[in-house]
Amino acid sequence: MWAELLPVGRSSASGGYRRYAWSGADADCRTWFQEQAGARGLAHEVDRNGNQWAWLGDPAAGNAVVTGSHLDSVPDGGAFDGPLGVVSAFAALDELRGRGARFTRPLGIVNFGDEEGARFGLACVGSRLTAGALTVEQAHRLTDGDGITLPRAMELAGYDPDTLGADPERLARIGAFVELHVEQGRALDLSGDRIGIASAIWPHGRWRFDFRGEANHAGTTRLADRHDPMLSYAETVLAARREAELAGAVATFGKIGVEPNGVNAIPSLVRGWLDSRAADQASLDTVVTGIEQAARAYAAAHGVDLDIVRESFTPVVEFDHALRDELARILGTRTELKVPVLGTGAGHDAGILSDRIPTAMLFVRNPTGVSHSPAEYAAEDDCLAGVNALADVLEGLACT
Ligand code: GLV
Ligand code: MN
Ligand code: MN
Repeated sequence: MWAELLPVGRSSASGGYRRYAWSGADADCRTWFQEQAGARGLAHEVDRNGNQWAWLGDPAAGNAVVTGSHLDSVPDGGAFDGPLGVVSAFAALDELRGRGARFTRPLGIVNFGDEEGARFGLACVGSRLTAGALTVEQAHRLTDGDGITLPRAMELAGYDPDTLGADPERLARIGAFVELHVEQGRALDLSGDRIGIASAIWPHGRWRFDFRGEANHAGTTRLADRHDPMLSYAETVLAARREAELAGAVATFGKIGVEPNGVNAIPSLVRGWLDSRAADQASLDTVVTGIEQAARAYAAAHGVDLDIVRESFTPVVEFDHALRDELARILGTRTELKVPVLGTGAGHDAGILSDRIPTAMLFVRNPTGVSHSPAEYAAEDDCLAGVNALADVLEGLACT
């Protein structure tokens, strides 16, 4: 499976993946998914929000067990974030068939669309729409950097955007969703364990800061006469770091847009996107409020206008305790491995769906902790331990 998937959407320049929602690379990933489903005799379907499903057994029977993840990527993402969960899902099914397992519940394998939000700015669009956490009106307003709206992008990719919307009937048929994911930190590396179970996801969100100043000549405009939004932006980046340190949180400006983006022109607009996350809501509020206040003060000092828009937000997720304990129990009886329970600052479709259905996650060790980078890595032995653990869990949940 990896041999076919690894070349898809890989930049030869960076070695990273550029698999953006509804792009050509995304289409190739979707074709791959459909082929994997077909090769295993699974029924393939695309739901009203563009998520892909492969079914063993009839989902209409209800109480289905679903596993899977996403195939899209951040700009220059790694090979594992998302695809490891989908590849492992198919591999776990192969393992279970090899074991002669008999399924008593329908099994679904899912590829959620647009998990990273790299193109339209909002993460987990496919699962948010399905859960009703994103309205159709909001989805219609999502626009990429080229001015293409989400519905138009879907249409160009050959999908019908008129079907977008909450899908409670689909969710009602699912009894449990278990997402396997590469760990995006070093907790497992530090504890010396191959796999872990997720406890919670930090609350997190994205905020857009638009600093509007005055374009002018870089050579002739006196420093005192400038309204340079780059200065207030730069000071805000430093303030974000300070506020995050004070609160034990994280805050990142990882994306920026500059107009007119000329070497010899003072910018008229600097647009920066803040991603901030903290262990609890109060700390996150403190960090973001602190950054906003600092940004307004810096903007005022430079005679620059500032608009701040919250583009997305995901509250803290505490994974279903009963399902989490069930995973621990199943793994406790079937593997010699110690399986710690750990939290994460990364967002996932399992987190979005946790409001509606019981969800759980398995993490696979990442020896460097690096993620959202071409250097992201997981060792083959650990990936295989992940497949076995997922197979054990699916067997425990869905087989006699
Ligand atoms: C998704 O990977 C996120 O946490 O941003
Ligand atoms: Mn990611
Ligand atoms: Mn992911």
